Amino acid sequence: MKSRTVLITGGAGYIGSHACLELLQADFNVVVVDNLSNSKLESLTRVQQITGKTLTFYQADIRDKAALSDIFAKEKPSTVIHFAGLKAVGESVEQPLLYYHNNVFGTLVLTEVMDEAEVRQLVFSSSATVYGESDSPQYTEDFPLGAINPYGRSKAMIEDILRDLSIADKNKPHKTPWKIALLRYFNPIGAHESGLIGEDPNGIPNNLMPYVSQVAIGKLEQLSVFGDDYPTRDGTGVRDYIHVVDLVKGHLKAIEALNSDIFSSGSCKAYNLGTGQGYSVLEIINTFESVTGKTINYKISPRRSGDLAECFANPNLALKELNWQVEKNLKDMIADTWNWQTKNPQGYN
Ligand code: NAD
Ligand code: WQD
Repeated sequence: MKSRTVLITGGAGYIGSHACLELLQADFNVVVVDNLSNSKLESLTRVQQITGKTLTFYQADIRDKAALSDIFAKEKPSTVIHFAGLKAVGESVEQPLLYYHNNVFGTLVLTEVMDEAEVRQLVFSSSATVYGESDSPQYTEDFPLGAINPYGRSKAMIEDILRDLSIADKNKPHKTPWKIALLRYFNPIGAHESGLIGEDPNGIPNNLMPYVSQVAIGKLEQLSVFGDDYPTRDGTGVRDYIHVVDLVKGHLKAIEALNSDIFSSGSCKAYNLGTGQGYSVLEIINTFESVTGKTINYKISPRRSGDLAECFANPNLALKELNWQVEKNLKDMIADTWNWQTKNPQGYN
């Protein structure tokens, strides 16, 4: 029988910790490799506390080939979910080499080790940020790619590398063929309903939802709404926010699909993970206020460079092929964000 061990790179992070929780609850053995560059081990302590199950943790950098090879030899996973990566768009513009080294070179080392260990099932954390400008705000997987910053380009490059790997396999098949799911996340927010794990950004958050919740709790004074003159229903930017628990459930569905006829030998397929529904910044603020009873102090500021007016997923392919769809609505996402924020005003500290 195939091993039920899933190796998770970046498993101590925001999305990774929620994935560990769902996998443990689904009776997988979970092995985490994380260098803790943007996370705390406490997240995994809490995952074990919530589930009453244990996982195996290695503090290692995915670029350390020797360490990674040893872990694969010891743990013999059947599948890898690859979350490890740096993700701050602004930082990637300032330090492109850091981003390409960590994200692209890190993935090269990981896939070399996987190839040598004959572990060729991979679920990769891609992003809606790989898409280029388009005429329609609703993105399907076949839209042209065209990331506009080093972070996004690192994801697009990794997608290319993984596609090439699967093409090589089609031409010269392995006994254990490559099967790769590229999951393009839209805007993950929210937290596990326990309020014990959640997003714990370093310093001042870049993303809207953690910023709003830190204003609500009094850590930050005022939210800047970046632009109110976009061609959207109220002039502010529209995005597809998705509950992190729905998002990680998509990864379990992807693992099922990798082991089914959906993925033939040597296939690499991309799936949007979003709700299909967009909300504007002002709609987020208003819903946050009505769910939490807090008032959000905000001002309208100039547009942030690089932002699109509107972007949301067409999630039909993930429904059709992965049998995945979201269960939680915007109110759930906000209630769970607030539950985490109020229970952990200083994050994991
Ligand atoms: P996160 O920073 O919370 O988690 C990433 C984890 O990877 C951290 O625990 C970090 O310590 C670890 N890591 C980074 N580089 C590493 C390395 N070289 N070796 C070992 N571990 C390393 O981020 P997240 O929000 O959980 O995102 C997870 C993945 O999803 C990332 O690849 C990110 O690019 C992608 N993604 C995130 C979003 C989002 O908005 N959060 C959207 C789309 C895609
Ligand atoms: C959402 C909306 C802002 C902050 C980013 C990355 C993307 C992906 C997800 C990883 C926009 C507005 C924001 C603020 C605001 N990450 N906003 N004031 O830009 O859609 O995507 O995170 O892959 O790569 O680019 O998300 O949360 O930053 O912004 O008005 O203080 O909120 O202009 O309309 P974005 P976001």
